[in-house]
Amino acid sequence: MKVLGIETSCDETAAAVVEDGSRILSNQIASQVEIHARYGGIVPEVASRQHTLSIMPIIERAMAEASATWDDLDGVAVTIGPGLAGSLLIGVNTAKAISLARGLPITGVNHLEGHIYANWLAEGSLDFPLVCLIVSGGHSDLVLVRGYRRYVLLGQTRDDAAGEAFDKASRLLGLGYPGGPAIERAASSGTASIPLPRAWLKGTNDFSFSGVKTALLRLVEGDGISSQEDAAASFQEAVVDVLVTKTVAAAREHGVRQILLGGGVAANERLRQSLMESSPIPVLIPEPILCTDNAAMIAACGYFRFEAGETDGLDLDVIPNLRIA
Ligand code: KG4
Ligand code: ZN
Repeated sequence: MKVLGIETSCDETAAAVVEDGSRILSNQIASQVEIHARYGGIVPEVASRQHTLSIMPIIERAMAEASATWDDLDGVAVTIGPGLAGSLLIGVNTAKAISLARGLPITGVNHLEGHIYANWLAEGSLDFPLVCLIVSGGHSDLVLVRGYRRYVLLGQTRDDAAGEAFDKASRLLGLGYPGGPAIERAASSGTASIPLPRAWLKGTNDFSFSGVKTALLRLVEGDGISSQEDAAASFQEAVVDVLVTKTVAAAREHGVRQILLGGGVAANERLRQSLMESSPIPVLIPEPILCTDNAAMIAACGYFRFEAGETDGLDLDVIPNLRIA
């Protein structure tokens, strides 16, 4: 079964064709990073306008890369949330138009579930029950996955999401946007020598990153920072330390067999390495291009929805504040 995936929840316009939920035939992404970098963050109005310009060329490129015709497709999967309403609408309306014009079934996909399904595209197989840490620009969710589409939300952020914390720290240090890759780049030539606080929130699986961000702000506003690289490395270490320690603890508490990672922050090499070193059980992490927003993960998730008979009608709508469970 070949599924066309469409993703426009935030600032990437993406389309992909995936076969049987696991074989990527094409994966096209048009990033708006350079456009939003001018403003130091995503401007929702600009994002939706850009999606309208990019969506058809990106779909055509994905179809061409997969050497697929419309007749080769078996369904269309599209992100319905969470995300920016205006951005999500472009993807959903395009998917509906294709569904109507080509007589293809359509299914709406939860973007966060997509980040979990990116692991279906990774090397290696899944072993339930497992714990998945989804760390993106808007979420830090720790999810117990008991089986296909059986989720329990174990913990979430109480303030900033992990990616949001990276973005804000980068702005504080004058390292630019998007913050995650900028912090990682600077950190690679620094040492984590500055002590920064960790919010352990003992007895819960929740996260909090506002304290470490404020501590960094105090440093910048106070005596100043002698090395941006050391500050970036210290910040990265503080965030990674909490994410890894709490994920491994939750995995132990629930006696799971595997840990998965997903979301844009999962592209961070220090996080990937640290989790693999600290975990007593196998860890599965998609390659970086499948961690940040993409449509292959949406097509993979869509395949399993179609297999379960979960198709939607043309009244499919966006749900900007959709949750995982
Ligand atoms: O999943 P994603 O691409 O979009 C959302 O669904 O939000 O995640 C974007 C977030 C941004 O906050 C970005 O700074 C962060 O992921 N990110 C990283 C890295 N690459 C992207 N954070 C840390 N290290 C990275 N290498
Ligand atoms: Zn995402």
